[in-house]
Amino acid sequence: MKTLYLNIRELLQVREDNIHKVDGKDMQSLPTIKNAFLLIEDDLILDFGEMKDAPKKNIENVVDVRNKIVLPSWCDSHTHLVYAGNREQEFVDRIKGLTYEEIANKGGGILNSAKTLQQTTEGELYEQSAKRLEEVIKLGTGAIEIKSGYGLTTEAELKMLKVIAKLKKNYPIAIKSTFLGAHAVPTEFKENKDAYISKIINETLPKVAQGKLADYIDVFCEKGYFSVGDMEAILFASKKYDLTPKVHVNQFNAIGGIPAAARHNALSVDHLEVMEDRDFDSLKNSNTMPVGLPLCSFFLGIPYTPARKIIDNGLPFALATDHNPGSSPSGNMNLVVATACIKMRITPEEAINAATINGAYAMGLSETHGSITKGKKANFIVTKEIPSYSYLPYDFGNNNIDMVVLDGKVVS
Ligand code: NIG
Ligand code: FE
Repeated sequence: MKTLYLNIRELLQVREDNIHKVDGKDMQSLPTIKNAFLLIEDDLILDFGEMKDAPKKNIENVVDVRNKIVLPSWCDSHTHLVYAGNREQEFVDRIKGLTYEEIANKGGGILNSAKTLQQTTEGELYEQSAKRLEEVIKLGTGAIEIKSGYGLTTEAELKMLKVIAKLKKNYPIAIKSTFLGAHAVPTEFKENKDAYISKIINETLPKVAQGKLADYIDVFCEKGYFSVGDMEAILFASKKYDLTPKVHVNQFNAIGGIPAAARHNALSVDHLEVMEDRDFDSLKNSNTMPVGLPLCSFFLGIPYTPARKIIDNGLPFALATDHNPGSSPSGNMNLVVATACIKMRITPEEAINAATINGAYAMGLSETHGSITKGKKANFIVTKEIPSYSYLPYDFGNNNIDMVVLDGKVVS
């Protein structure tokens, strides 16, 4: 069935060629068509252009979106959306003066979430996660990556990955899954981290691969969690299962995770709140996407990823939510885009590129998602009546979404 969207005030992120990402200075350009039409057939984009060229015949369905803006749905390439329970008590403890690190050292943090998740049934975990997924779809997210990493036993990690697989099957949104067994060292392995790494490599990873439960592999490379050597051992072991790395690096300390991940051809390096000169150099010679998570910086009160410097160095840059119970309980990409403009001082054009086409690249979906291109998925957001696209980050915290279309169907 063909549907024609008419009188679009401005159609954003229009790419004639199927580009996969935008780098450096090119991020300043956000190609648009004013007073546009968008024609879709079933789940795909068939055509677009100026209203004067809009097709007039053989259209089954016409939608007038006068004064509204249309843009590709958000591509959220880094989330931990599958989790059990919440951690609002730790939030209150941080307000009262404890640091994220002190809370983790007391057995809180990731280990706290793992304990809850281990005691939660697969059915209950699915219900809690499906509710969050439905919420972010309403907020305009049209493609998402979800990680394991709150299981920390083989059984509980597989439980998380099965929940992600079930979400993939039951929802129209594109989902990529990532195995993050090395998210924290479980208490019982506290004195013997190497034994936990061996367990991940020799027991959990083969089962994850056998069940085809992951698209990517992740490691939290950080002081007190996993060293560069630990990360490299896990990434090396994942190669035989064809799992591409997408890793947590440089959140609190620069310990060499970025050059190591680039050497392992990581698809993305995420967090990057702390960066050294060598980190920029190693990314320049790679196909690895740097990903910033501004809501994590906002929520924990830690530095923001130097997005301005990353882009000014000619590199690409993507934005994601990090949706998780400890460092970013929000999965709102609209807020991510606004926070990036306000706190990272990147322009609306750069932020929208970072949250659409570059986000799609950071989860291997830019062939089908992230821009208005013929043949790509008909996944887009119709805004309320707003004056311009800069109004989106300017009007931060308010919901300017009128309609969400996924695979050609209006879902919200
Ligand atoms: O990306 N940094 C590691 N992992 C998550 C947070 C984990 C948690 O606190 O539950 C993150 O911020
Ligand atoms: Fe994360």
